[in-house]
Amino acid sequence: MISKMKHLLTALAISGFVISTPITAVASEPSAATIEEGKKLAFSRSKGNCLACHAIKGGSMPGNIGPALVAMKLRYPDKQKLVKKIWGVPELTIPNSIMPPFGRHGILTDSEINTITDYIYTL
Ligand code: HEC
Repeated sequence: MISKMKHLLTALAISGFVISTPITAVASEPSAATIEEGKKLAFSRSKGNCLACHAIKGGSMPGNIGPALVAMKLRYPDKQKLVKKIWGVPELTIPNSIMPPFGRHGILTDSEINTITDYIYTL
């Protein structure tokens, strides 16, 4: 009897453990190095060249064709939406906008777009 109880308790303990273990899918925060790399890509005239059209804090001689890139977290609570905007998914593309669809036109790789997003998400 006692050994049966032990088995039951063990089984309950195991299943309880399994159920209460949180799924560890926490999106990792970008490192300082990643953010710095994203800034370089965004400012680079041969890569993102975002400054040609957008004012960005710390950037020299920005253009004013596009809106200033500020408060990105407020404007894009969903970070993936920001990635998609820069990538240039059709549903987020404004008709006749001169904002280049960086991913769709292969101007930047997906990894470069993610890194730039990590950076501008800090603005
Ligand atoms: C040739 C000009 C041009 C370049 C280069 C450019 N953009 Fe834009 N961007 C625009 C214009 C114009 C808009 C506003 C219309 C639109 O949403 O397409 C815009 C809109 C945006 C928006 C949406 C802003 C909002 O308030 O919702 C984001 C984010 C953005 N650009 C990021 C970038 C990033 C990051 C880069 C560099 C990788 C970049 N842009 C390069 C012209 C440009």
